[in-house]
Amino acid sequence: MIRSVVKGSGSALPKTCVSNAELAQKVDTSDEWIVERTGIRQRYIADAGETTSTLATQAAKKALEAAGASADSVDLIVLATATPDETFPATATKVQAALGIKDCVAFDVAAVCTGFLYAISVADSLLRTGMGKRALVIGAETFSRILDWEDRGTCVLFGDGAGAMLIDAEEVAEGEQDRGIIATKLHAAGEHHDLLYVDGGPSSTQTVGHLRMRGREVFRHAVTNLAEVLNETLDLAGLTPADVDWVVPHQANARILDATAKKLGLDPAKVVVTVDQHANTSAASVPLAFDVAVRDGRIQRGDMVLLEAMGGGLTWGAAALRY
Ligand code: UT7
Repeated sequence: MIRSVVKGSGSALPKTCVSNAELAQKVDTSDEWIVERTGIRQRYIADAGETTSTLATQAAKKALEAAGASADSVDLIVLATATPDETFPATATKVQAALGIKDCVAFDVAAVCTGFLYAISVADSLLRTGMGKRALVIGAETFSRILDWEDRGTCVLFGDGAGAMLIDAEEVAEGEQDRGIIATKLHAAGEHHDLLYVDGGPSSTQTVGHLRMRGREVFRHAVTNLAEVLNETLDLAGLTPADVDWVVPHQANARILDATAKKLGLDPAKVVVTVDQHANTSAASVPLAFDVAVRDGRIQRGDMVLLEAMGGGLTWGAAALRY
């Protein structure tokens, strides 16, 4: 059987880092409130020359380098974003051009903070059905461009960044779990649109719009949905929480990470936390946190890793992979 195996990862952040204290000079907030309610200490904000595609391209180059692969060997680029450079074409095609790839499949996936889980599930399916042998899966965002900087309830929570994984289709023995993506599970519940959305778009207002969130209600859904989808994914993979070496969650709020780990009976020391450094980078947060934990030596080859996320839609999902 064919499995999609992660061969390398990479990530990128804008040059400018903004601490809570710096933000508090412009917004009616405090370092104390932000740290206590979210665990966030700083975020990176793109400058005029930095866009979703430039960050995505940097992350993709690092993933290719880590895997020892050349750009022209890529058959498929799946890029998750809610903040594309332009309404169209897909930001994935800008990354393709920037990497100098003459021909491949390239498209974007829109599932907001769950975007990377949707993207990796789609890439996994396409690789397993023979669409190609090598995929670049990217999560990249410049959420700073869609924040309402007058709304202290949301603008302190997000940051910009990108993360990428290079994934190869490899033949493994039937039922073998020694490497690759073992299971994925996705959900959406469009009835909850009003909890987290952007109040603009090409077809409705002809503007980009600003992010709107009912944070407390999203929080409640997040803890329940994430624990449920992690259990579903473990079941699909035939695993128990004791088999898991690392959980790489979407980085929205340190309190959500703690509550989810507790609900599943997972050791909090096995949860990769980067929300303090990057804030919520939406679709970028899972591959960004994964790359940080690979590069600092926490995630090792052979480790069983769970990825999970929840975001606007509402959407949520998880994946189990042997690195
Ligand atoms: O990535 C997609 C998924 N997103 C999430 O998972 C986000 C989930 N939600 C959350 O993380 C939390 O709900 C927040 C961090 C957004 C908010 O925390 P909370 O504990 O739910 O606070 P709250 O919104 O209920 O606000 C509590 C108080 C309010 O004041 P009053 O009405 O109690 O006087 C707010 O006005 O905190 C006030 N407040 C702030 N104060 C200082 C809200 N934002 C700020 C701020 N600085 N930035």
